[in-house]
Amino acid sequence: MKKRILIVNSGGDCPGMNAVIRAIVKRASQESNWEIIGSINGFDGILSEPLEIVPLTEERVEGIHIQGGTILRTNNKRNPFCYPIKQADGSEKNEDVSDKLIYNLKVFGFDAVIHIGGNESHKISLKLSEKGVNIVGIPKTINNDLASTDYSFGFQTAAQIATEAVDKLTTTANSHNRVIILEVMGRDAGWIALSASIAGGAEVCLIPEIPFSMDKVIKKLKSRYNSDGRGFANIVVAEGAHFKDEKGGVISGNISHEITKRLKEINFEADIRETILGHLQRGGTPIAFDRILATELGVKAFELVEEKKYGTMAIHKNGELAYVGIQDVINQYNKVDLSHNLIHTAKGIGISFGD
Ligand code: F6P
Repeated sequence: MKKRILIVNSGGDCPGMNAVIRAIVKRASQESNWEIIGSINGFDGILSEPLEIVPLTEERVEGIHIQGGTILRTNNKRNPFCYPIKQADGSEKNEDVSDKLIYNLKVFGFDAVIHIGGNESHKISLKLSEKGVNIVGIPKTINNDLASTDYSFGFQTAAQIATEAVDKLTTTANSHNRVIILEVMGRDAGWIALSASIAGGAEVCLIPEIPFSMDKVIKKLKSRYNSDGRGFANIVVAEGAHFKDEKGGVISGNISHEITKRLKEINFEADIRETILGHLQRGGTPIAFDRILATELGVKAFELVEEKKYGTMAIHKNGELAYVGIQDVINQYNKVDLSHNLIHTAKGIGISFGD
């Protein structure tokens, strides 16, 4: 009888998810004794009655590496340890259904699970691993905020999209002598903002790791205008950035609205406009870097299962494919280190962090 691997992707989608699914399937097809099955909509597929799972053959995954999103669909609200169950009165109550999940894995003959996800997803991976599930993780997130790996797939595509947004906003800001604020994703990490600021050429880059002072931002903006009011400036702000002495939260749009409000309060001399890039950063086809990374991680994850290296996550570290214990990954959060060369580089070309 063939051995069976269940692929579960959970959390937000990101470019490269299909490439990783394809890689696992294609790698498994090189061996004769493996069957790859996908769980639809995160853990829902293996928890629903009847199960919603799909056999993933080479034919099924052909050509999907260039597609955005995920053919398995995903969600970020269906944690099996806190899973919404419909009650008789129509309401929903969160319950721990992990035992049911483990039972279904056993009954339907799954030898292992490959879980593709970000920080929250891998907290689930760890708990399942502690309950005896043979699980291997793959790092996925546009935020690049997963520790232990140099990159998660999806991040470079998001950084590219954010850079193209800066490129476009620059021409219109310049034509109208405006300040344009571009808000990008990243949760509590500033990787996308930092990359897009350097690559696109922003004057101000605001990230969660460096609480900023509005006075410093205004000083930088003023330096961009001549006495006739001609000039322009781009601010790239990460959704999790916050003012000095104020706690940040990640609510899309809040921080860019607040910066606009404060600039208007002092009657800043130029027009101000804001663009919230939102889910444009998560959609569409992955760039080559992410396709390659996703393919590498998919191949590695399958091989980790083959070698029975469970409770681990496939990573890319210092140019090499490797693996770490899931515990190591979720015990940390990959913020931008202030000594990182990208901070040094950005400061070196005069980008202000408002610090
Ligand atoms: O974690 C990825 C991410 O895109 C964050 O950058 C963002 O804050 C969040 O997901 C958005 O989640 P949702 O798709 O639920 O709005």
